[in-house]
Amino acid sequence: MPHDDPRPAPDWASARAQILLDPAVTMLNTGSFGPLPRPVFDRAAELRLRLAAGPTDFFVRQAPPLLWDARCRTAAFLGTEPHRLVFTTNVSAAVNLVASGLRLAAPGEVLMTDHEYGAMVWCWERAGQRQRLGVRTFPLPTMPADPGEIVEAAERAVTRRTRLLFFSHVLSPTGLVLPAKELCDLARRRGVLTVVDGAHAPAMLPLDVSDVGADFYAANLHKWLLAPTGAGFLVVGPGNEDRLQPLHVSWGYHPDRYPIGDGGKSAGPDAPDAYGSTPRVRFLEFEGTRDICPWLAVPVAIDFQADLGWGNVRRRVADLAAYTRRVIGDTGLSPATPAGPGLHGAMTAFELPAGLDAGKVRRGLWERWVEVPVIERPDRRLLRVSHHFYTTEAEIDRLAEVLPEVLQAAGSG
Ligand SMILES: Cc1ncc(COP(=O)(O)O)c(C=O)c1O
Repeated sequence: MPHDDPRPAPDWASARAQILLDPAVTMLNTGSFGPLPRPVFDRAAELRLRLAAGPTDFFVRQAPPLLWDARCRTAAFLGTEPHRLVFTTNVSAAVNLVASGLRLAAPGEVLMTDHEYGAMVWCWERAGQRQRLGVRTFPLPTMPADPGEIVEAAERAVTRRTRLLFFSHVLSPTGLVLPAKELCDLARRRGVLTVVDGAHAPAMLPLDVSDVGADFYAANLHKWLLAPTGAGFLVVGPGNEDRLQPLHVSWGYHPDRYPIGDGGKSAGPDAPDAYGSTPRVRFLEFEGTRDICPWLAVPVAIDFQADLGWGNVRRRVADLAAYTRRVIGDTGLSPATPAGPGLHGAMTAFELPAGLDAGKVRRGLWERWVEVPVIERPDRRLLRVSHHFYTTEAEIDRLAEVLPEVLQAAGSG
C-alpha cells in the first residue's frame, strides 16, 4: 500500500462534504463506528439494488468476479495475498474464527495485554475453558516513551507455558499503537503463535500485514477505511493454512464437491475458484446466503482515501492529533495517549477527573450533540477523541467548549 505521495493537499472542507454525517452532530467517535463517504454508500446501494432485482443472477453470476476483485484489491491494500484474505462481518467474527478453530497444546496459556477489548477477552476465555488453557494478562506500559518498553514488558511475560500471544495493534481505550511487528518477532523466537486484533489499524496506520508477520491478523474495514458496516477480515499467515475450522459449516466445507457454478474442479487449494474465493478461503468464509455487498464496496472505500492521498490523510490526522491534545489539554484534562512517534494515530484519550458519574458525562455530551465515548477502565475513566481527516477544528473546539459544564454537572470541577 503506498503511504506517501507527492500530491497536493485536498480541500478538506470539500472532502468532509462527501461524508454522510449529520451536520448537527459533533462526531468524534470514528473509533467505534466509521461513517460512509457518499461514493461508498452509493456503491453499496447500487449493489443491493442489483441483488434485490435479480438475486439468483447476482449471487450466481455477478458476485463471484466482484468478490475476487474486492479480495485482490483489499489484499493489495493490506500488503497480503488474495488467497490469505478471508472476509468476515467484523473483527469479532475474525477473532472468533481463530479462537474457536485453533487447537493449542494443553496444558498451557493464552497471553494478552491487560488492555484488550472486553468482548475479545471473553472470546479467549471461552476458548481457554474449552481447551483447558489458562488465560493470563500482563500489564502494558500505557504511556511508554518508546515502543521498546512494550516489547520488553511482553518479553518478561512470555513463559514456557505460553502458546499464543493476543494483542491489539491499536488499543481501543487510548489509541496507543503497539509495535506489532516486534511483538510478532518476539513471539516467533519463543515458539508462540500470534493473533493480532487490528480492529483500528487499516487506514489509520500504514499497514503492511505480511511485514507485521502475525500468524493470524484480524481487523475491521468499517472503522477507519470507511467501508460499509459488515466489512472485516482475517489474514491467515504463512504456515497456518490448515490450522482452522470454519465457524459455520456450509457449502465451502467440502471444497471438492461444488453444488453450483460451472467452474469445475479447482486448480488447487489456493487457486481462484468459481465463487470469487479459493477453496481454502471459501472453507472458512462461506456461511450460506448473506449480504456480501459491504465486502464488494471495499474497493470504492480504498479509492476514496487513496484519491485524497494517503500521505495527505496522515498529515491531516497528525495535525488534528496535535490540535486535540492542545485544545482539550487546555481544559485541564491530561492526555492518556503518548505523544511520541509511532505510539499514536487517530485517537487521543484524556483522563477524566476521579469521582464523577460516567453516565452523566455521556448524557451531558449527547444532550449537546457531541458524540465522544467515555471509557471505563478498572482504575480510571477516559474520554477518547477520534480525529479522522474529515474532523474539523471547530468540532474539537466544540468539545472543549462543552466539557467544563458537562464535567461539573457530572460531579467534578
Ligand atoms: C480493539 C477492538 N477489538 C474489537 C472490536 C470489535 O469490533 P467489531 O464490533 O466491529 O467486531 C473493537 C471495536 O471497537 C475494538 O476496538
